[in-house]
Amino acid sequence: MKVIRSVKELSQLTEALRSEGKSIGLVPTMGALHAGHRSLVDRSVKENDVTVVSVFVNPTQFNNAHDLATYPRTEEADCQMLEQAGADYAFVPSVEEMYPVPDTRQFDLGEVAAVMEGPMRPGHFNGVAQVVSRLMEYSHPTRAYFGEKDFQQIAVIRRMVELLGLDVEIVDCPIVREPDGLAMSSRNVRLTAEGRKVAPSIHSILAESTQWVNELTPDEVIDRVIALTNSENGLEVEYYQIVNALTMQPLNSWPKEGEPDAVGCITVYCGDVRLIDNIKYPRS
Ligand code: PAJ
Repeated sequence: MKVIRSVKELSQLTEALRSEGKSIGLVPTMGALHAGHRSLVDRSVKENDVTVVSVFVNPTQFNNAHDLATYPRTEEADCQMLEQAGADYAFVPSVEEMYPVPDTRQFDLGEVAAVMEGPMRPGHFNGVAQVVSRLMEYSHPTRAYFGEKDFQQIAVIRRMVELLGLDVEIVDCPIVREPDGLAMSSRNVRLTAEGRKVAPSIHSILAESTQWVNELTPDEVIDRVIALTNSENGLEVEYYQIVNALTMQPLNSWPKEGEPDAVGCITVYCGDVRLIDNIKYPRS
């Protein structure tokens, strides 16, 4: 595997590969790689001639300086894992390389960014759109891989791709969990020992709530999930919403046959660590 740090080098290389008819899979990451990221890389390696994994902690998507400063950085271990996974290129640029001048673009991300993470983290999705659009421009991907752990992010990326008219297939990949159900996340290493013990309740409560669709409305499920989660010592829900899987708009009733799935999206503070997770509801 080759480590590339220059935009120009990546761009020239991938342009040449595409002109030879090679398919390119792009896996954007912020590093501190774990088995969740690995599942995206494995899938890309399987489905494409060449896989490019970017490792870049993108400052423009952080709206909290503490979160950016404490974001784990483990470049050496990341490159080892990527090599083992069979990735062809790791793109590891500096901030100056990615943003030689500030990116002032404002994307019209519309309704999918107007809810949940949108208002909670002002500027976050615009920063994601800035960096992912650049990564796509530089790596000429045939396909780009994203995890359903960041469910709303996928909808935002699809919107960005549509806005810019990019010719790339967005591939969404299922959430990878620890054996106790906790969704894998680079931020899990920041949990305290007690936090780590209680955090799996987030998923177990969500999983239990999928059995309530016959008796309760979405709003009633939301109230019960929030109450149960907050009753766990050390967990505090920031929001829980049950939304249309495509539009991200809150649902008043469960979807009918032929309508997009209902997905429950949660963010929970476990101490000062903000965890996110989601679950798909079955048809009632
Ligand atoms: P990061 O949090 O590093 O995640 C990179 C990709 O891995 C995202 O698509 C994310 O959804 C996926 N991922 C993370 N944990 C996962 C899990 N447990 N199971 C499955 N997939 C998982 O998301 C970002 O970085 C950034 O916003 C980025 C898209 C790279 C733009 O900077």
